[in-house]
Amino acid sequence: MKVSVIVVAAGAGLRFGYIRNKLFYPLCGRPVLAHTLDHVFAAKSIDEVILVTSIEDRADIQKMVSFFHPSVPVRYADGGAERQESVYHGLLACSASTDIVMVHDGARPWAGPDWFDKGLAAMKNAKAAVYAISVKDTIKEKDDETPAAKLHTLERSRLIAVQTPQIFHHSTLLAAYEYAKEHHLSATDDASFVEALGEPVVILSGDERNRKVTTKEDIPVLEFYMRGASVPHVG
Ligand code: CTP
Ligand code: MG
Repeated sequence: MKVSVIVVAAGAGLRFGYIRNKLFYPLCGRPVLAHTLDHVFAAKSIDEVILVTSIEDRADIQKMVSFFHPSVPVRYADGGAERQESVYHGLLACSASTDIVMVHDGARPWAGPDWFDKGLAAMKNAKAAVYAISVKDTIKEKDDETPAAKLHTLERSRLIAVQTPQIFHHSTLLAAYEYAKEHHLSATDDASFVEALGEPVVILSGDERNRKVTTKEDIPVLEFYMRGASVPHVG
C-alpha cells in the first residue's frame, strides 16, 4: 500500500498580513511549515511527500527543507491560484503506484505523526475520511453581503468544522477532482468534491489544537498548544 501526502504551501497568506507567505512566520522560533513537515516526515505510514509551493517561494522553501530536514526526499509541485488547483497539481505529481493520498495544509503545524497513521488505518473501511470537531458558535447563513441580508440559522448540533489531513483512496480523490473541474465546482477542502460525487466520507475525531494559522491571533494560541501547556485552572 503506497501512501503519498500532499502538503499545500502555495498560498499568499493574505489574511495573516506578513511581508511574505505566513508559512515562513516563526512559531516557537521555527517557521510554521518546518513544524508541519516535522510531523509529516515522522509519520510511519507515509512513503512519499509532495510539497506544493508557489514558484516565488520555491527556492526559500527548498532551503528551509534542507536546513531543518536534510536528506529527506521531497517532490515539488507548482501551486495554483486557488488551494484546489494546488491540490490538483499535487495529485498529478503523485507516483503512478500511489494507493492512498493524504492532503494536509502546510498551515497546520500541530497535528502529529499519529494523525497520518490513524488516517491510513481508517482507509481499511473507507475511501475518504476527514478529521472534524464540533462547532461552538452559532452559525448563520446570509443571503447576500449587505447589512440588511436575510439570515438563516443553521442547527448547531448538525454542524462540524473539518480539518486536515484529509485521507483518500488516490483514485477516489482524482475522480472527484476531475468531476469538480468538469462541473466548475469550487471548495476550500478536498472532501467537498468526494461528497459531490455522492461518495461517503468517514468522520474521524479531530482536535481544537489542530488549528490552521490564518491570522496573527493564531500564533500565541498555537505556541501555547505546542509547548504542551494545559489550560490554567482558575478558582
Ligand atoms: N494554499 C495553496 N495554494 C493556494 C492557496 C492556499 O497551497 N493557492 C495552501 C496554503 O499555503 C495553506 C493551505 O492551503 O497551507 C490553507 O489555505 P489558507 O489558510 O487559505 O492559506 P492562504 O491562502 O495562504 O491564506 P489567505 O487565504 O489568507 O490568503
Ligand atoms: Mg486561502
